[in-house]
Amino acid sequence: MDNLKSFIAANKDRFLNELITLLKIPSISADPAYSKDVLKTAELVEKSLQDAGCDVTEICETKGYPVVYGEKMIDPKLPTILVYGHYDVQPPDPMDLWTSPPFEPVIKKTELHPEGAIFARGACDDKGQMYMHVKAAEFMIKNNELPCNIKFMIEGEEEVGSDSLADFLEDHKEKLSNDIILISDTGMIANDVPSITTGLRGLSYVEVEVTGPNRDLHSGIYGGAVPNPINVLNKMIASLHDENNHITIPGFYDKVEVVSDAERAEMAKAPFNLEDYKKALDIDDVYGEKGYTTSERYSIRPTLDVNGIWGGYTGEGAKTVIASKAYAKISMRLVPHQDPDEITELFTKHFESIAPKGVQVKVNPHHGGLPYVTNMDSIGYQAAAKAYEKTFGKTPIPERTGGSIPIVALFEQVLHSKTILMGFGLDSDAIHSPNEHFGVWNYLKGIETIPYFYKYFTELSS
Ligand code: BES
Ligand code: MN
Ligand code: MN
Repeated sequence: MDNLKSFIAANKDRFLNELITLLKIPSISADPAYSKDVLKTAELVEKSLQDAGCDVTEICETKGYPVVYGEKMIDPKLPTILVYGHYDVQPPDPMDLWTSPPFEPVIKKTELHPEGAIFARGACDDKGQMYMHVKAAEFMIKNNELPCNIKFMIEGEEEVGSDSLADFLEDHKEKLSNDIILISDTGMIANDVPSITTGLRGLSYVEVEVTGPNRDLHSGIYGGAVPNPINVLNKMIASLHDENNHITIPGFYDKVEVVSDAERAEMAKAPFNLEDYKKALDIDDVYGEKGYTTSERYSIRPTLDVNGIWGGYTGEGAKTVIASKAYAKISMRLVPHQDPDEITELFTKHFESIAPKGVQVKVNPHHGGLPYVTNMDSIGYQAAAKAYEKTFGKTPIPERTGGSIPIVALFEQVLHSKTILMGFGLDSDAIHSPNEHFGVWNYLKGIETIPYFYKYFTELSS
């Protein structure tokens, strides 16, 4: 790996330009208007795998957007690392809050990224982080330093729940067989505090609809005498948390893993500055479940959040109206050993039971996913830790994150594979928000660190 650093330095501009080309295509999986762009992105990803030196590449059809597959097999007796990533992105809205257009990438300096960061939707989640793996593979293949076999599986529906992937895994078990799965689709604590993600939360996502009168009504003629679905929905939602911010759905906490005081004390050693946290978000206080610290609230505890709520008149000026219907989208983040289907059922039963007379309630489940926790004693974790030690000069801190990558639990169920999560983004990189960005330093550091994971994983496996 002697020439890894010089290879990256010599190719830095090309690596950035290639990523910029990828970021220019609006591969928004949630919006069918962009389906051509999503497919175009899959083709570009396939080409990048060919250019990196993969022997086999394929655009694999699924019932939704395709999975891009690639492989470079050295020797079947050597370990095989499967890289997973996603080429789809979140919708960019609200557009007016972007300081530069989401699909016209530009490099700008920020306080945390003095060397510049690429601003574009998908820069960090996940095109930038996925592409680090393609460039790391290019280095290892072109320099004859690939110590083991490599497979890529880059999907196009992660941001909409990876609906086609369960079938895809079942149908391609052989093709996807591996010794470890490697993913960069999470974050790290800070550029000088490397960390390895050891846990992801699960997810249950529902949409609720409350119907009152059969049509929109004049809020003067009828107001006060009929159920107003928006008022009712808000009251129902408010009742889902008690005064300690515990979730009130009966049975919701029954299966929640109790983290021991010793483990909590261990987790509390990870650096976290509450004042900086509040300052970065312009809030004068945090808010959450009584009895838990902020970092516990977003990692080891389950949550319920309204993600969107609508109904009635929201246009210019005022319209006096009682809407016939009100809606909300609600996510519940889950922790071991909660089951998304069970939680969705508990939610549905409870939500229907608290509806007052006079309205009708419908609960439509969306995608879900199981939580995941990794074992720090594994060869995979050790190899990742050594890789960070090599390139950051520091031992990474294990950290459970609040986000979800539902495919990780599926990998374990269907392929019986463990996953290592090596994220290089920062929480402040604004993923899913306006002005998403990814540090140039982080991008290049990822490309530098990944080959060492291959080296140490192969060494530790033998
Ligand atoms: N890359 C994120 C998940 C993530 C980000 C985990 C940062 C940890 C830290 C992924 O693309 C994502 O957004 N997942 C969704 C779930 C999915 C089912 C839509 C999420 O967590 O909301
Ligand atoms: Mn992602
Ligand atoms: Mn995402």
